[in-house]
Amino acid sequence: MRVRPSVAPMTERLAVDPASPDASPHAQVIARAAACLRRGGLVAFPTETVYGLGVHALDTAAVSRLFAAKGRPASDPLIVHVSTLHDVRPLVANLPAVAETLAKQFWPGPLTLVFEKSHAIPGEVTAGGPTVAIRVPAHPVARALLWAASIPIAAPSANLFSRPSPTRAEHVLEDLDGRIDMVIDGGPATVGVESTVLDLTTGTPTILRPGAVTLEMLQSALGEVVVARGRDLDAKFRGHSPGLLEKHYSPRAPLTLYEGRWEVTVERIVADARAARAHGQRVGVLLVGSAVPDSESADTRVITIGAHGDIARAAARLYSALRQLDASEADVILAQGIPEQGGLATALRDRLHRAAAGRIVHA
Ligand code: TXA
Ligand code: MG
Repeated sequence: MRVRPSVAPMTERLAVDPASPDASPHAQVIARAAACLRRGGLVAFPTETVYGLGVHALDTAAVSRLFAAKGRPASDPLIVHVSTLHDVRPLVANLPAVAETLAKQFWPGPLTLVFEKSHAIPGEVTAGGPTVAIRVPAHPVARALLWAASIPIAAPSANLFSRPSPTRAEHVLEDLDGRIDMVIDGGPATVGVESTVLDLTTGTPTILRPGAVTLEMLQSALGEVVVARGRDLDAKFRGHSPGLLEKHYSPRAPLTLYEGRWEVTVERIVADARAARAHGQRVGVLLVGSAVPDSESADTRVITIGAHGDIARAAARLYSALRQLDASEADVILAQGIPEQGGLATALRDRLHRAAAGRIVHA
């Protein structure tokens, strides 16, 4: 048995087969987790993007416990998860026609829409703001849980504030064991990066955070779509929306991002790794292209997250790799960038840039 801190409550880990969450015995597990949520408990669950930490979105005391458990500033608003577009109506002041178009095409799925909120949504969920972010997740376990609980579930990523988002139940426990009631283990999240956040309250729909529903997909559905730049977001949120700003999603060790042609970045990374080792540092290397032969040694951990061009695989493995490099007690992480090429690469680049928090080498 594991030794636990004496005062911390237990966090239950419950396995549910994502292929059949509605069949016995998984349905009973889902029912227990749903009851826990309805009572104001904190339940982490898998979504197709990352694991979320769920709470009854209309229970303000429970929402406060969620912020405390994550160590998240109350100024950072939460995404509300619901089962269908129908459930959105009571939560928003008005449902624009574009929302129906988008829901038809992309829900359930990794797209979050920002609306003017209705009075039903407590200010604690929206950081006191007039808008609310809502999504219908696609993961069968998330869907079964929403269906069983029959409440809107507010769920940020189930990590401690500023740690990489969790893509496995183990990651959730690394950060939150003893701080939450349950985690439902439904296997690894397949997308691996958080949902696209699209603001529908601006004149033209505006991407606040890139994700697996890409700019190109949104443009072909809606016509004009714009991408918010860091400075616009700063002005809009006055620094109150860390997930949208820089210096987030960080591993513990400082990460430097190397941008440029593959061969050149590899050369620079190998040289800088050697220099860091000469200074007695342990080095973590994150490669996005193919592995570099003979680069691993006792004081260097190399993780390759995707073969050339396989952006989806790299995105799915990014956060897990950052946690592994931290666990290897790297003092510094040297990460290879990827070229801008649209699609999911935009989201992967965005997360790499945030993890680097401005430490970029143009090789
Ligand atoms: O994929 C996801 O979106 C995951 C899963 C669990 O659904 N959730 C997630 O939540 O990433 P979180 O809290 O880690 O990130 C939510 C992002 C934050 O950047 C937050 O600032 C933004 O959405 N957000 C929430 N409400 C907003 C609002 N009303 N207006 C603009 N941005 C908002
Ligand atoms: Mg988060």
